[in-house]
Amino acid sequence: MERTSWDGVYREGRDLYTVNATPGIRVYGETLRVDRGVEHRLWDPFRSKLAALLLRGAPDRLLSGVRSALYLGGAHGTTVSHLSDAWPSATIFVVEKSPTSFAPLLALARRRGNLLPLLADAQLPERYQADVGTVEILYQDVAQRNQAAIFVENARACLASGGRGVLMLKVRSVTQRRPAAAIVREARETLTRGGLTVRSETSLLPFSREHVALTVEA
Ligand SMILES: C[S@@+](CC[C@H](N)C(=O)[O-])C[C@H]1O[C@@H](n2cnc3c(N)ncnc32)[C@H](O)[C@@H]1O
Repeated sequence: MERTSWDGVYREGRDLYTVNATPGIRVYGETLRVDRGVEHRLWDPFRSKLAALLLRGAPDRLLSGVRSALYLGGAHGTTVSHLSDAWPSATIFVVEKSPTSFAPLLALARRRGNLLPLLADAQLPERYQADVGTVEILYQDVAQRNQAAIFVENARACLASGGRGVLMLKVRSVTQRRPAAAIVREARETLTRGGLTVRSETSLLPFSREHVALTVEA
């Protein structure tokens, strides 16, 4: 298994791995593999859009040297668990508004000291801004209609100047008839108007047909 340019992320062939912070324990049924005496967890790009972005080619610096992060839309913690593996000494705040998803997230955080879950609505960052403070990276995956505006509000509230961001933009759903290109263009405009610089735009095909990843700098 080889190191990658992203902190704490390893690669073998086309597969990505992180070192399991809780050896012997799976989070979402993923494969465990021991390499040179260290247990790794396979990071499934069909289950985690961040793994898909890394495989599609994310900026080298994106996941490096992170000490603090704000993650919006933690769900059950699939992606969050890999960030917890990859950044053992970082503080990762995880916002999730659904009580049903929050329960497993809380159980995950009890086993992983670098995760701080918050039962909150990402549309109201003023409710958690004081707890979170300023972070180096903002990650959002909430699949809401006003997703770019939510990202801008959270960046204003919590992202350090020069900080990095990843917006997993939902561009397709069964009820949405608007072309994906128009949704991406509008999101980019909202981010730019909000004072953020869009650094990359990446389709997540073939892993997700519904999302485009935008990376930004504050
Ligand atoms: C696609 S899932 C996230 C998957 C997760 N990021 C992963 O990769 O493991 C979207 C999550 O966002 C949450 N969500 C939607 N709107 C939200 C909001 N306004 N504030 C916080 N969480 C929200 C949903 O409850 C759901 O759990």
